[in-house]
Amino acid sequence: MKIIITGPKCSGKSTIGAEAAKRLEIPFYETDSIIEELYSREHNEKLNFYEICEKLGETAFREYEKRAVKEASELDWCIISVGGSTLLDSESRRLLRDDSVIVLLKADLGILWERLKKRGSSVYFKRRSPEDYFKEAASKKIETLEPFADITIDVSDDNDNPGKFISAASDYFAMLSKSPNTSGQIIRATTFGESHGPAVGVVLDGLKPGIEFSAEDIQAELERRRPGQSSVSTPRSEKDKVRILSGVFEGKTTGTPIAMIIENKDQDSTKYDIIKHLFRPGHADFTFWKKYGIRDHKGGGRSSGRETAGRVASGAAAKKILADRGVKITASSFEIGGVKAEEYNPNEIESNPVRCADKQAAEKMQQAILEARKNGDSLGGIVELRISGVPAGLGDPVFGKLDARLAGALFSLGAVKGLSFGDGFEAAKSRGSEFNDQMRDNDFLSNHAGGVLGGISTGQDILVSLAVKPTPSISQPQDTVNTEGSSKKIQIEGRHDPCILPRIIPVVEAMAALVLLDCWEIQQRLRPGTI
Ligand SMILES: Cc1cc2nc3c(=O)[nH]c(=O)nc-3n(C[C@H](O)[C@H](O)[C@H](O)COP(=O)(O)O)c2cc1C
Repeated sequence: MKIIITGPKCSGKSTIGAEAAKRLEIPFYETDSIIEELYSREHNEKLNFYEICEKLGETAFREYEKRAVKEASELDWCIISVGGSTLLDSESRRLLRDDSVIVLLKADLGILWERLKKRGSSVYFKRRSPEDYFKEAASKKIETLEPFADITIDVSDDNDNPGKFISAASDYFAMLSKSPNTSGQIIRATTFGESHGPAVGVVLDGLKPGIEFSAEDIQAELERRRPGQSSVSTPRSEKDKVRILSGVFEGKTTGTPIAMIIENKDQDSTKYDIIKHLFRPGHADFTFWKKYGIRDHKGGGRSSGRETAGRVASGAAAKKILADRGVKITASSFEIGGVKAEEYNPNEIESNPVRCADKQAAEKMQQAILEARKNGDSLGGIVELRISGVPAGLGDPVFGKLDARLAGALFSLGAVKGLSFGDGFEAAKSRGSEFNDQMRDNDFLSNHAGGVLGGISTGQDILVSLAVKPTPSISQPQDTVNTEGSSKKIQIEGRHDPCILPRIIPVVEAMAALVLLDCWEIQQRLRPGTI
């Protein structure tokens, strides 16, 4: 992979490219210098690029240029400055396109002309109307190259253009290199840490500088996810105090990665010793063993719900930014152990331990969980997610559709076994005449689709339901096998959530916020000023 920097004369390809390469500590090349080297090797004479052109004539010179492009196309992990005219040749474009990111520098034509005049010597000054000739050539280059460029940067001002170049190129590379521990394209959250390691956390990158960022906002969301918060969550007692290590200065983002760490203080690995060689039914022990060949039996390692603390910390920041733009993201328990909410009172959600919007149903849900726990068992249920204030236009067909991205993010949570938008599976039983959301007076008359059409937000509420399975770690005796494959009985001790719903709710909101903010940033770049 390499970065090609190109643009019309005086756009600063060489200066910006060389400075960016220095800062990134990677090599910098120029096709002009490669031509000079090729010529000197073959003619035993040192001439500069212009002298070679003059001596050989246009046709022979272009042949040299093509050979230089061929050599450049074989380079890797470097920045290469390529003359705008070189890339007007389709074969050169094809060669340099492969395994590269093309960055086009453009600027106001008047500014480019002023820079050329300051520079003094140029073949353009030999023309009859040098200014017109130069501007026409520069504008042709920009017009032809812009559709081929992955990134276009306006360099009309001289305000740290190498910095702009590095930031745009790194955003682009981040978009290309997806890691399974990182979510997002522009707003990227990488979580780290295991259940019984020293800490869990997240590195959140891609936020612009100057956004207000308070540890209190992050902490408030972490409190909602924290273990040991009520009688229906795990008794593991963690304070989950977040420590912000970087990326924030005097309460504002600096535009650099924000690292947040949450220490594990109350891990008790002794209870896990008896299952060191046994696989917990319903948990990820067996598949992690098959995939990685390592058995981190202490608290489930990275497959533990504890990993989600980093998601909540980064999601809290995304949620706050979206709230300032009018987006409200609310998840609640719709059903637990067969008890369903019959009314939706959003003010009720945070005042009961199961986070249900119906006070009476909440009490019954709580009783059902305590009963299951008494019997060494656990319960599952349905989480309802409602998002309001999302403008129409978020989501990127085809593989970045909003519903596909939300589903991917929410399915990345442990214990989520089903997901639907709007009427969901009921759609299968409906007729078009019933299911279609008809429109009148510039509005929708219903919301069966759940706020997404064609993978793009409609501007209506986004409605999602999630099926969450019962907590796999239960204390009843169960059948399993050990790492040798022999049949065994297992009885799990340790501290576990008797029902995952109350604690998964802030995580669901966090994941939705990260996806929505990322889609928002993408849309802002696609059609600036439209949302
Ligand atoms: C917030 C949260 C808390 C969880 N708490 C527990 C728990 O206490 N005990 C447990 O066995 N599983 C718990 N889980 C579920 C497991 O992490 C999950 O079931 C396991 O990784 C297997 O993944 P799967 O259910 O997606 O197949 C929790 C999950 C989340 C998201």
